[in-house]
Amino acid sequence: MQAQLEAIISETESAAPGIQTRPEFDAFKAKISGPNGSLTQVMKSIGKLPKEEKPAAGKLINAAKQRIDAALAATLARIEENELAAKLGDPIDASLSSPDDFAGMAHPLSQVREEICRVFHRLGFTIAEGPELESEWFCFDALNTPESHPARDMQDTLFLPAGTLSKDAPKKGNEAYVMRSHTSSVQIRTMLARKPPIRIIAPGRCFRRDTVDATHSANFHQIEGLWVDKNVTLKDLKSVLDSFVREIFGTSVETRLRPSFFPFTEPSFEMDIKSPNLGRLSDRWLEIMGCGLVDPKVFENVGIDANEWSGLAFGVGLERIAMLVHGIDDIRHFYANDLRFLRQFA
Ligand code: PHE
Repeated sequence: MQAQLEAIISETESAAPGIQTRPEFDAFKAKISGPNGSLTQVMKSIGKLPKEEKPAAGKLINAAKQRIDAALAATLARIEENELAAKLGDPIDASLSSPDDFAGMAHPLSQVREEICRVFHRLGFTIAEGPELESEWFCFDALNTPESHPARDMQDTLFLPAGTLSKDAPKKGNEAYVMRSHTSSVQIRTMLARKPPIRIIAPGRCFRRDTVDATHSANFHQIEGLWVDKNVTLKDLKSVLDSFVREIFGTSVETRLRPSFFPFTEPSFEMDIKSPNLGRLSDRWLEIMGCGLVDPKVFENVGIDANEWSGLAFGVGLERIAMLVHGIDDIRHFYANDLRFLRQFA
């Protein structure tokens, strides 16, 4: 019997590697352990043995069966693996990146806005907000901007018919509505809502009736700044803005305040920068924001005593900063939603 079993084992083990398909395997297995299989025959023959030989024979058969089962199991596993590989097609190339590994990202304008907010946060500013749809009073009158000012011209500003604001939107003064043309309206809302000292920045979307080109967009973003305290001076204005600009453009940046005019600041300036880090723009002064000391008339309009309090204000164009930081030459890239552009900032 031992010889018989050994023959079955060696037959099984030598034939197994050649079995390729499931039908082949089923036939092969039946030949060994099926009802008429070779192993089954040997097992049946135990019954005819004398009683005292049966235990030893049983042991032999069990040992043989284990080896045969192992060979069969390995063969089946190999066949199953091949079947799966055939189903999946080409073998998986783990070095190829997945086509959908792009997890998303903040828009470049959001990234630069966050960075600017972080810088001002370190300088002690907190974030304030205001609505994009304003009444004329918040956008102009309270900011000392007279009816005749060009910013209030139909050609420059997007007006909406009266009655567009919801019932509970804050209203003050006359009731013409505008898409805010700058974030300076948030200065007014903040000063009406809380007492000085105040130190806020207000990032937000603005709207102007602009013809869109490489540097103009009817929809753009600003970051407003307002600091109201005792004895705020031009020195504070210069040091706050210099710190900001050095954080964003590096310490080699030069700045200058150029006299200008805004109805809500006195004196008023445009701040220009010049930096060796700005490539082909490094040889010239670049205007990056309007600023000045808060005009006493504005304090009067919001009920703050101009004899006791003083302030500085500034308004930075977010797109302008982002374009300079990243060397972007056309403002329209920001809004085109083209992944080839956006992914560069991932
Ligand atoms: N609101 C001005 C603009 O949009 C910028 C500005 C803000 C100027 C604050 C002075 C102070 O051009």
